[in-house]
Amino acid sequence: MYRTNSCGELRAANQGQTVTLAGWVQKVRALGAMAFIDLRDRYGITQIVVDENSPRELVELAEKLGREFVLQVEGTVRERSSKNPKMPTGDIEILASKITVLNSSQTPPFTIEENSDGGDELRMHYRYLDLRRAPLQRNMILRHKLAQSVRRYLDAQNFLEIETPYLIKSTPEGARDFIVPSRMNPGQFYALPQSPQTFKQLLMVSGYDRYFQIVRCFRDEDLRADRQPEFTQIDCEMAFVERDDVLNTFEGMARAMFSEVLGKELDAKPFPHMSYDDAMKYYGCDKPDIRFGMRIAEFSADLKGSGFPPFDGAEYVGAICAPGAAVYTRKQLDELTNWVKRPQIGATGLIYARVEADGTLKSSVDKFFDQEMLQKWAAATEAKAGDLILVIAGTKKMAQNALCQLRLEVGEQLGLRTKGEFAPLWVVDFPLVEWDEESGRYFAMHHPFTSPKLDDMNRFMTEEPRDVKANAYDFVVNGVEVGGGSIRIHDSEVQSRMFEVLGFSKEEAEEQFGFLLGAFKYGAPPHGGIAFGMDRFCAIFGGDDSIRDYIAFPKNNSGRDMMIDSPSVVADEQLKELALKIDQ
Ligand code: AMO
Repeated sequence: MYRTNSCGELRAANQGQTVTLAGWVQKVRALGAMAFIDLRDRYGITQIVVDENSPRELVELAEKLGREFVLQVEGTVRERSSKNPKMPTGDIEILASKITVLNSSQTPPFTIEENSDGGDELRMHYRYLDLRRAPLQRNMILRHKLAQSVRRYLDAQNFLEIETPYLIKSTPEGARDFIVPSRMNPGQFYALPQSPQTFKQLLMVSGYDRYFQIVRCFRDEDLRADRQPEFTQIDCEMAFVERDDVLNTFEGMARAMFSEVLGKELDAKPFPHMSYDDAMKYYGCDKPDIRFGMRIAEFSADLKGSGFPPFDGAEYVGAICAPGAAVYTRKQLDELTNWVKRPQIGATGLIYARVEADGTLKSSVDKFFDQEMLQKWAAATEAKAGDLILVIAGTKKMAQNALCQLRLEVGEQLGLRTKGEFAPLWVVDFPLVEWDEESGRYFAMHHPFTSPKLDDMNRFMTEEPRDVKANAYDFVVNGVEVGGGSIRIHDSEVQSRMFEVLGFSKEEAEEQFGFLLGAFKYGAPPHGGIAFGMDRFCAIFGGDDSIRDYIAFPKNNSGRDMMIDSPSVVADEQLKELALKIDQ
């Protein structure tokens, strides 16, 4: 036996026991006749002592040990003279009787401790060492627990875990595909799936009724904190369901996950529903963080006044009220102004008004607006004494986004986005399609397999689909889109109409999606589903904005794996075999 116990397990009650531990040296302190070794494994750290009661050669050996050496230590558990209350094993130590060096280690390039001294790049390069650190190990354990909880819940609900292929066909919708050349079919390519969408629908046609898969998806898109080029979905589909059957099933799953993984029982009330239109109107985006208020008020013509150029020419003027933020200094307000003027947001400026203790308002544009008008602003935003009104004017798209971002930023500054508090939300009734001015065509807001709402079906089949609503839903937690899905089209005529709306010719639709249109002619049941971003779920549970450290081997912001140094060039021979030439 390599070990009798783990490095995180022994307590005062184990005093006097002879034990064998195995693990990595986190730290050695050799003090002449004595040495202390912190021995670490996945379960924790235990202090090993070598002193005058240990065999003499152990003192010499201890001096030669370095960080990250792999040891097997035999010894006796004894009470420490100076206990460490910060460590679960801090009451005891192991008096070593035998130490075997199982492997030596070069000095690691950064400290492998709770907080490392290594920079981002270095740690990505040596990801296998970073993964030894406790915070990353906690994240991987969380991810494991989350996956098990999902499997338990869905299994109990009769879902079948079925795998779908990774080498599929490139399609023009959605994000950019990663493509894979086929040696056996020169000049032809597979695509890696952006999601198993069409396959899970085909499984419904095949009668599997309830499907799920914890599955890797691939999208060649610009990366952000919550986006990786390969990420994992909890992908699900159900037959013979309506929207609320799907929402109830997955509300149940989310509750089970919060309870089993975090020990958190969510409010017993059903998760709130919010229409897409209300989300945009009151929060400026389709994934509101509803842990706090500060809803947006749109200024109608009588609130805009006149003679103030930024308002006069604006398509949209909207405001939020930051509670208690009248204390913001000039410097803080200047910083916020610069923040909304960044190119990512693109506001031309930020107008503010403080509500003084006596209820009067003091604005940055007093020249243009009298007290009476400012009081109207206060009424519209429900601002009270001590509050701060922040106003942005511009195009509707820019100003709504700016107010959405500003709300989150100021909410954060005011401590309103409470850590450890979770506000789940279903956003429903999305538009089915979006018109893109640049390309002069419609794009599917979710994907081309989403069904219009039944009430809008006739209009969809016969008229311009501009205002048609989709039977689609997103699952949002604390302002993060964690999941999205829809009731699907299951009728080949409706599906063909969808492709027509999206600008596909009959031939193109047949070429790209003939298999699905064909399948719908053989008795496709009504069906619907959803996919959750597993990495995002983990990050939310772990209280992080970035998903990167919940993925064992992630890519950096340029889509590179720094550790294996990928992507990389391939040998000419390989290119030749694939009938490919690099044009550079
Ligand atoms: P959608 O494209 O909304 O839907 O994706 C579902 C969920 O996957 C997560 N996600 C990502 N996570 C990390 N990195 C990415 N690049 C990334 N892209 C998406 C999000 C998102 O909510 N087939 C449909 C689902 C369906 O209709 O059933 C789909 O893929 O959390």
